[in-house]
Amino acid sequence: MDLFEAIKNRYSYRGEYKEIEIPIKHLKQVVEAGLQAPSGSNKQTTSFVIVNDEIILNKIREVLPKVKPIQTTSAIILCIMDKNPEQIHGNPHYEIEDCSAATENMLIAITALGYASVWLDGILRSDQIAENLGEIINLPKTKTVRIVLPIGIPTIDGPRPDKLPFDQRAWFNQYNGE
Ligand SMILES: Cc1cc2nc3c(=O)[nH]c(=O)nc-3n(C[C@H](O)[C@H](O)[C@H](O)COP(=O)(O)O)c2cc1C
Repeated sequence: MDLFEAIKNRYSYRGEYKEIEIPIKHLKQVVEAGLQAPSGSNKQTTSFVIVNDEIILNKIREVLPKVKPIQTTSAIILCIMDKNPEQIHGNPHYEIEDCSAATENMLIAITALGYASVWLDGILRSDQIAENLGEIINLPKTKTVRIVLPIGIPTIDGPRPDKLPFDQRAWFNQYNGE
């Protein structure tokens, strides 16, 4: 799939996935795309745990029982960052931006390979979900799970929200919005 086609086709899929195993080769390709992302001062602060073991997947499913893609996926990528980046890197620090850049690269790679995903982030911040996920993958207490990406082939064509047109959000040379 052409790059611009993949960017356009990417959307947040929140339905069930088909029952398939995702080849390790594809999982590595997706995470390689994340590793290639830019990062502040090239500190490469995001790390990744790919979960494709059924026992660990089941533990994650217990933590996110209502999230259909998590319930039906055969592979999940967890994006890890430092819990207290300021203490480690001082100011400015760019962990959230680094993690986001890696995530978007991976979402586009996931789409280009014919799969769909959803950027799970907000949902991890309540009910100790990020902490529980960290325990499942043996994460040191200094790190946190910031973003989770399930991967799979959709069983239905999920809704694709409209994006505002170019001239409502972008201009040449001068800001022309409200
Ligand atoms: C920072 C961030 C946090 C997000 N957190 C969640 C989340 O916790 N759960 C969820 O279902 N979608 C989450 N999303 C996906 C957005 O809801 C989605 O990107 C947005 O509605 C636009 O839809 P689209 O991705 O289909 O273009 C998140 C996206 C971003 C960028």
